[in-house]
Amino acid sequence: METKKPIVIKIGGSTLGTHDTTIEDLVNLQKRGLLLVVVHGGGNRLTQWLERHDIPTSFIGGLRVTDERSLEMAAAVLGGLVNTELVAAINSLGGRAIGITGVDGNLIEGKIEDARLGYVGRIVKVNTQALEAILAAGFIPLIAPPCARSSDETANVPYLNINGDEIAGELAAAMSAQSLIFLTDVEGIRDSHGKLLRKLTTHEVRSLLASGVIAGGMIPKAEAAMTALKTTSVVQITDGRVPHALIEAVEGRIAGTVITQPI
Ligand SMILES: Nc1ncnc2c1ncn2[C@@H]1O[C@H](COP(=O)(O)OP(=O)(O)OP(=O)(O)O)[C@@H](O)[C@H]1O
Ligand SMILES: [Mg+2]
Repeated sequence: METKKPIVIKIGGSTLGTHDTTIEDLVNLQKRGLLLVVVHGGGNRLTQWLERHDIPTSFIGGLRVTDERSLEMAAAVLGGLVNTELVAAINSLGGRAIGITGVDGNLIEGKIEDARLGYVGRIVKVNTQALEAILAAGFIPLIAPPCARSSDETANVPYLNINGDEIAGELAAAMSAQSLIFLTDVEGIRDSHGKLLRKLTTHEVRSLLASGVIAGGMIPKAEAAMTALKTTSVVQITDGRVPHALIEAVEGRIAGTVITQPI
């Protein structure tokens, strides 16, 4: 049995630009012998593809409203294109990665909770056996958002779209991760004046959510941080576009926001 705790990393779609060193950093960290579990988004890519097909996009509380056509597109673009590109990039730099979605091995099971969001699931169960097997074999599991639909839900469509942040939070909690790191397109959580907040407790995060200072795409990250911190000791949110932001975060020299439980 694997006793070392993994680091769970969420790569935001919008951070995967051309100058990004995230892939290089992942390979470097894998070579150091760290266990890495990576969840990716790809919101910008998906929005581009939806636009090309004249499918409108809207968000409620940072979550993408997903009708049947957008769900198909999410599976094609996130589970297909983005996942394939990331795995290929890691492997081409000498890393060892295997791409899966939340559907594989029933990794993540969701249920529709808010009908206004369409085919968007909230996580009801996590089955980490597939991840443990991939980690034990020496690979980085790279997880795309489409997830399984819980079998006790009457379903015409057997899978759902789930926000990548929520997946990362639940996986970190389920695996008692060493840490959870969000790489995104802002320097961290900002206060109402736009100033970076370097250290936050879950209490403070809760009040920033309640006051609406944490909004849009930062909402699922903040909620995922609180989920993860049930078993994980630290959550970091940092700008993935900054060279070597991931290595800095792993080494504890984070430039962004660190969230912990209050003492
Ligand atoms: N208080 C806040 N501090 C910082 N960013 C915030 C805050 N409130 C809202 N945001 C927004 O959250 C965004 C990050 O979430 P977003 O969903 O856009 O990216 P991502 O999750 O990294 O990528 P993807 O959704 O593609 O996986 C920021 O670009 C910013 O606009
Ligand atoms: Mg997001």
